[in-house]
Amino acid sequence: MQDNYSFRHRHILGLEQMSAEDINHVITIARSFKEVSARPIKKVPTLRGKTIVNFFFEPSTRTRLSFEIAAKRMSADTFNISASTSSATKGETLIDTAKNLQAMNPDIIVLRHSSSGAPHLLARHVEASIINAGDGTHEHPSQGLLDIMTIMEHKGSLAGLKIAIIGDIAHSRVAGSDIRGFTKLGAKVYLAGPRTFMPAAVEQMGAVVCDDVQEAVRDADVVMALRIQQERQNDSLIPSLREYAICYGVNDSLLRLAKDDVLVMHPGPINRGVEMNPDVADGKRSVILDQVTNGVAVRMALLYLVLGGDKPGVEQGE
Ligand code: CP
Repeated sequence: MQDNYSFRHRHILGLEQMSAEDINHVITIARSFKEVSARPIKKVPTLRGKTIVNFFFEPSTRTRLSFEIAAKRMSADTFNISASTSSATKGETLIDTAKNLQAMNPDIIVLRHSSSGAPHLLARHVEASIINAGDGTHEHPSQGLLDIMTIMEHKGSLAGLKIAIIGDIAHSRVAGSDIRGFTKLGAKVYLAGPRTFMPAAVEQMGAVVCDDVQEAVRDADVVMALRIQQERQNDSLIPSLREYAICYGVNDSLLRLAKDDVLVMHPGPINRGVEMNPDVADGKRSVILDQVTNGVAVRMALLYLVLGGDKPGVEQGE
């Protein structure tokens, strides 16, 4: 990292906007925060007096809870609103809602929204830092970063790794961030799935589209399965879940093609027996729960960095 490096992002909208240096910096900070979660008293004063609003227009278990845990472990005040309990149900626009949130002077708004680009829109209308917690089919940057942190913990670096991503690439914002982040760090990303699940021109992001799933998994260092995002599909794009599981489900026999020390990943939630067999999800090669653990550390790092935490004069955690 260059001596004069400085993290300059006030918003976290996607890994598209981040350099390899930025990503490595976030992971370095996340590693330093990870041990806070292992302490008997899991709290540092780093974000004392800061206000963080988690605004989730779509369901979430992992992302929402880990942003809240991350904020609380850094002593920030957190507030949660969802679309169903907000005045969005009465017809208020996203921008009007955001302007009203801004009038209460939060420091950070964490937004999950079904529309691609919603966090980018908000970032143009409010003073608070915006963190994208998943926008439509576009990006899920904190998930991409926690996936990178997990791979680095097990493999040291992503440079030269073969990473297979299998499933519903077209509707997955996780794939959108992972492909961008993994390739920036020097991994080669191979994609496999039904043609109806493959986005147009995905090769322009640096990924290789494989004709069959075996080609993607052969000699892979990492195999990641994705959930079929039925909530983003108007029509059924596959004949049946049973057929999908037979052709693209990650099972033990498919994994025999990968390297012996392959990592098995999934962003969750898992449809067991569809995109991944239970024995694989719970097996010795699975790092799925490591991903969840690292999610808290990565989100602590993002909250810290967007508020200028690594700049001189800002109070550091003890
Ligand atoms: N991986 C992920 O985004 O999970 P949630 O939808 O539960 O937040």
